[in-house]
Amino acid sequence: MNIEAQKRAAAARALDFVRGGMRIGLGTGSTAKHFIDLLGERVRAGLDIVAVPTSEATSAHAATAGIALTTLDEAALLDLTVDGADEIVPGLTLIKGGGGALLREKVVAAASAQMIVIADESKWVSLLGAFPLPIEIAPFGATAIHRAVEAASAAAGCPGPAVLRKAKDGHAFVTDGGHWLLDASLQRIPDPAALAARLCTVPGVMEHGLFIGLAHVAILAGPEGVRVVERA
Ligand code: A5P
Repeated sequence: MNIEAQKRAAAARALDFVRGGMRIGLGTGSTAKHFIDLLGERVRAGLDIVAVPTSEATSAHAATAGIALTTLDEAALLDLTVDGADEIVPGLTLIKGGGGALLREKVVAAASAQMIVIADESKWVSLLGAFPLPIEIAPFGATAIHRAVEAASAAAGCPGPAVLRKAKDGHAFVTDGGHWLLDASLQRIPDPAALAARLCTVPGVMEHGLFIGLAHVAILAGPEGVRVVERA
């Protein structure tokens, strides 16, 4: 199985958790896209669900797939969210935000009774941090926020440079919420909770890509097949 087939296999397994009548959070990214495609097939065959998208891109893709959409304002509590991740450790702490949708992804996951993370096995790591940590910031005072984020990371025991994410046109990448993103190359995050706590104290940090205590189940697909890991 190539990586794309592995992502699709993980997404297909997540369908086993879906029941008629559910309100479902839809993640963002290439793996979540497979789930949306497969869920769309079920919907077109008669499955009755309603979904909350975590990005404008997912909203457009889900609508094309024929999935009925709503908002968290209309359906404040969701039954299930299915989303991808950039890194996953045992204990199911995640790094997310490679696709730039971390703020809405975290809000939707936190409003869900259950979050299932779907990924190919390359995302399963023993320690977070090789993937740069996305941090969503206010454009106002970005240089000062940038400095404060690097100081906060160092104080949490994971020093490393952060860079402003750029769009293809060379300007700052703008999130769906109108914010900017820093990608912090920290290499090792031995204590994600300590780092999260430090980052939350920086004025201008809107959200960060550490998802702690949110994922209940990870579905991982590799060349040998699919496995399901539950949070202890
Ligand atoms: C989107 O902001 C991210 O959190 C994605 O869920 C994450 O980057 C995984 O994306 P892929 O499934 O494309 O690897």
